[in-house]
Amino acid sequence: MTEKQRKIIVTAALPYANGDIHMGHMLEYIQTDIWVRFQKLRGHDCQFMWASDAHGTPIMLSAKKKGITSEELIADMHAQHQAVFDDFLIGYDNFHSTHSDENAEIVSDIYNKLKANGHIIEREIEQAYDAEAKMFLPDRFIKGTCPKCKTPDQYGDSCESCGATYNPTDLLEATSVVTNTTPVLKKTNHHFFALSHFSERLQEIVNSGLVPQSMASKLKEWFDAGLQDWDITRDAPYFGFKIPGTEDKYFYVWLDAPIGYMASHKNYADKHNTQDFPAAWLADSDSEIYHFIGKDIVYFHALFWPAVLEGAGYKSPTKVLPHGFLTVDGQKMSKSRGTFIKARTYLDHLQPEYLRYYFAAKLNSSIEDIDLNLEDFVQKVNSDLVGKLVNIASRCAGFIHKLFDRELSAELDDAEMHADLLDSSEFIARSYEEREYSRGMREIMRLADVANRYIDEKKPWILAKEMADNPVKASEVQAVCTQGINAFRVLIHYLKPVLPELSINAEEFLNSRTTKWDDIKSPLLAHKINKFKPLLKRVETNTIEAIVEASKEDLLESTVAVNSNFEPLAEEITFDEFIKVDLRIARISNAEAVEGSKKLLKLTLDLGNHTRTVFSGIKDAYNPEDIKDRLTIVVANLKPRKMRFGISEGMVLCASGKKDGEGIYLLDVDSGATPGMRIT
Ligand code: MSP
Ligand code: ZN
Repeated sequence: MTEKQRKIIVTAALPYANGDIHMGHMLEYIQTDIWVRFQKLRGHDCQFMWASDAHGTPIMLSAKKKGITSEELIADMHAQHQAVFDDFLIGYDNFHSTHSDENAEIVSDIYNKLKANGHIIEREIEQAYDAEAKMFLPDRFIKGTCPKCKTPDQYGDSCESCGATYNPTDLLEATSVVTNTTPVLKKTNHHFFALSHFSERLQEIVNSGLVPQSMASKLKEWFDAGLQDWDITRDAPYFGFKIPGTEDKYFYVWLDAPIGYMASHKNYADKHNTQDFPAAWLADSDSEIYHFIGKDIVYFHALFWPAVLEGAGYKSPTKVLPHGFLTVDGQKMSKSRGTFIKARTYLDHLQPEYLRYYFAAKLNSSIEDIDLNLEDFVQKVNSDLVGKLVNIASRCAGFIHKLFDRELSAELDDAEMHADLLDSSEFIARSYEEREYSRGMREIMRLADVANRYIDEKKPWILAKEMADNPVKASEVQAVCTQGINAFRVLIHYLKPVLPELSINAEEFLNSRTTKWDDIKSPLLAHKINKFKPLLKRVETNTIEAIVEASKEDLLESTVAVNSNFEPLAEEITFDEFIKVDLRIARISNAEAVEGSKKLLKLTLDLGNHTRTVFSGIKDAYNPEDIKDRLTIVVANLKPRKMRFGISEGMVLCASGKKDGEGIYLLDVDSGATPGMRIT
């Protein structure tokens, strides 16, 4: 290769550490991985630096809901995400976390530099505040009626019905999603990043190719509207990094998230003892830095991020590479239709490489949305991968194996045709480099057609039959099959970035490995191959149906948690966990006041086959005489508790209002129930 070795750092957007990875994410991560594998194949020093995006309010609240710490949640999600990525053959070089020592260090270093350079401004603002949860509310945690079109149940930043954007304070009948109470306005001091200082410099960067042309016009709209200073502060409680010099203020997750790219690189460089960090990020470095992202986060990557880097003395990214969104069967992924497919659900049913190929066949450098059409998916992978590609090898391998003791001929049958296949090498390489994968896949399939047509014409199966009478035909069969197998080898090689596992299995069959893009220049001749094993099965339509069904099931499990405003007070439990609580009907056979206690009544409970004593804090609400002989419900397997007045052997269930004066209410039982009955 004449190309000079490039130093390339590649990132994909950091997945939030509180949700499952779905097909939409995989579109991006497969796109990124193909590019990285291609660069490595070209011999470049390419590092795929990646991480979990671990901070922010949603993560904090979701951990709380689960009854675990944010740290536990993000560790768990990090492991789950990583397993999905490994199973999808995503060849990242590092998968770190934004909640890391490296990130804390770089974030505070960058903040200090921005501050020293005069790019941090402090200002008092008024923000929606949930007095009960004692927290400021992010826009997405406030719901109310759209001030414009009056549609109820809209988020604090924009209306899904009419598209209006507004401040949460403009919402009618605003309520906090966290507690269902009405937010109040509260003053707080915030730190802002002065994005406007970078207006000119950013336009320069954007105009010299930071984003694809198609995106530059969108950015121009933003420049024309004027860049606003960026609020990088979030008040406690928040899961993130504290702003230096404050006690209760944190960096907004979107400040530290992209810095997580650098932190992952630092972590990697430290582990591997390289001198790359921070060298690659400095203003005078000749390393190239590419960020693969979805079109929804361009603002952060094409404006905030380069400005933060420049403001702190680092260089701007080489390119920000946005892609469009994934639709399934022509529509936004939908939980009710079963098209909101999680990556893990797909993997439970199918090998990753079908999807990798399908996405490659659809991806290009534009920001157009990309459709995963399930019928087309089955048809395309079966026809291209099984029908065209693998078929070339399976049509030729048997003859070489059976008739020639696995040995390829010493010469090709049609050297010119083979040279033609090799001629496409740079065209396909350019397609990868320019992220025009669909163009590359089309070319590879065109070549597969050429190879299959060649075999169709030469008909080795007929030649093989004629061999018995005419020994000249023997060398013809061998040469034709050698031609076919060499064609297969070239195509598999071109597909290496897309089909990493299949290509390894194919190389096992070919008994020859390639590691660099130019390794296929000379054909395999007079070379022993291994026994051919089927490389890929056809995808069955019912497998797809099963995936869609399973995705609908996923919904059933998650509806309640996702859709309701109801904040459970305790961690969600399974039925098996619930049934561990032994609830029984009890008859209050005696109730009396406890001397020296203002709150407690001493209850004697009849549970059918025995009685026990329970102390209950219901004295305010009940006169002992009034509840004698009543049936109620008791937790019968609660560990006995030693109290000042005796041992309490269980607990009676009561409803109680949270606020004073809302009272305490013993649960009633319908007549007919008898003491000792189990409640389930
Ligand atoms: N955590 C931020 C990124 C921080 S980068 C410093 C984030 N996370 S995300 O999990 O919501 O999304 C990760 C990536 O997946 C984003 O680039 C996003 O655009 C992409 N996608 C999420 N849903 C998608 C589709 N339906 N289709 C294509 N890409 C999608 O954003
Ligand atoms: Zn509206």
